[in-house]
Amino acid sequence: MMTTNKWKEGKRMNYEKTLKKLEEIGQQHLLKYYDELSAKEQEALLAQIDETDFSVIRFMDSEAQEEGRGKIEPLAAMQLSEIAAKEQHFTQVGLEAIRRGKVGAVLLAGGMGTRLGSDSPKGVYNIGVTKDLYIFECLIRNLMRVTDMAGNFVYLFVMTSDKNHEETVRFFETHSYFGYPGEYVKFFKQEMAPAVDYGGKVFLEEKGKMATSPNGNGGWFVSMARSGILDIVHETGMEWLNVFAVDNVLQNIADPTFVGACIEDECMVGAKVVRKADPDEKVGVICLEDGKPSIVEYYELTDEMRHQKNEQGDYAYNFGVILNYLFRVSELERIISHELPLHRVEKKIPYMDEAGNEVKPQEPNGYKFEQLVLDMIHEMDKCLPYEVVREKEFAPIKNKEGIDSVESARALLKKNGVTL
Ligand code: UTP
Repeated sequence: MMTTNKWKEGKRMNYEKTLKKLEEIGQQHLLKYYDELSAKEQEALLAQIDETDFSVIRFMDSEAQEEGRGKIEPLAAMQLSEIAAKEQHFTQVGLEAIRRGKVGAVLLAGGMGTRLGSDSPKGVYNIGVTKDLYIFECLIRNLMRVTDMAGNFVYLFVMTSDKNHEETVRFFETHSYFGYPGEYVKFFKQEMAPAVDYGGKVFLEEKGKMATSPNGNGGWFVSMARSGILDIVHETGMEWLNVFAVDNVLQNIADPTFVGACIEDECMVGAKVVRKADPDEKVGVICLEDGKPSIVEYYELTDEMRHQKNEQGDYAYNFGVILNYLFRVSELERIISHELPLHRVEKKIPYMDEAGNEVKPQEPNGYKFEQLVLDMIHEMDKCLPYEVVREKEFAPIKNKEGIDSVESARALLKKNGVTL
């Protein structure tokens, strides 16, 4: 057994080592309150620092950010008329794949939902009016429409983060998974990244805790692998993973027609898209970049490109992504070791000020670093953009009021016959 002195000496050495590491990267302020902490808090802080990948801070530098875009060209989508003509066939093919356990669903629920302004996970938000109706509940209902049709269940993998894991799991348990079998719902945590002020200094959230935030929605497959969840995918012989955002309450999950279309198209990934309301709508559009599928933000398209027409007389860059993708598992395995770009995102980050007060800022005060699922699309050689009807499948809840808000989502749910 270690004597007390030896233990103290070990701890001191650990502290010295950590301080040296932090000094090398100019982040030694993180240990400013070390001596005020209890032994347990000290240990937790050193462990947090040890486990953190500080190299992401290099993306503070805007030059590291802007790698520049390749040659952008239009990518045609499979449109509603074509889908309608083949609907029966696609649906049969998709249902067959679902019945054979070839399709899994991945719910991205690790985000902080800062724009909505609730401290709880977004999925526990109650959007009901005359009765309770939670976002998670809407999603489960949508999924069950498909599993009822197929006659068997689909695994639902839920990505959470350190910030919301316990509450999310407890919420599902308390509500008995809204009628879905619990053994088909598996949770896994994503990785965290340090959050910094505009000068690149990592914030302290508390005296003994560094401010970290979930590392974006692009790391989901790597996190699935790290957590051991991927074993289920392998053991069951799953071939497709439908990854989708938590905040679209009209999300059509494991949609058999979409699954069938992707299988028949032999694509590597399918992306649900909606027709833009007008050429200037601020959505990310699907395109080709240097010959490979990609997504560009509206501001990355020139005026000319935004108004460019194709041979059919339609706008050439006319389809926006809605964060519902169907990835082929073998392709995800192929790119698992590829490093995705890291994006610097301006956010409101709770922190501790110089006087030791914990502050919850009302305006953005720094950056967090995120990998994005849309960058995974560019790693695929063949993507099927698949058009869906916006009013039927896209009701995102990003803000409290106005565009993409609780109000607009409620109106769309009503339109689709959901009682609120
Ligand atoms: P958003 O980009 O809307 O981010 O996420 P957010 O964190 O939910 O909300 P804001 O920007 O702070 O208001 C799109 C989807 O990606 C998930 C979200 O949960 C949502 O389903 N996501 C986002 C993660 O799973 N992890 C992340 O680190 C970020």
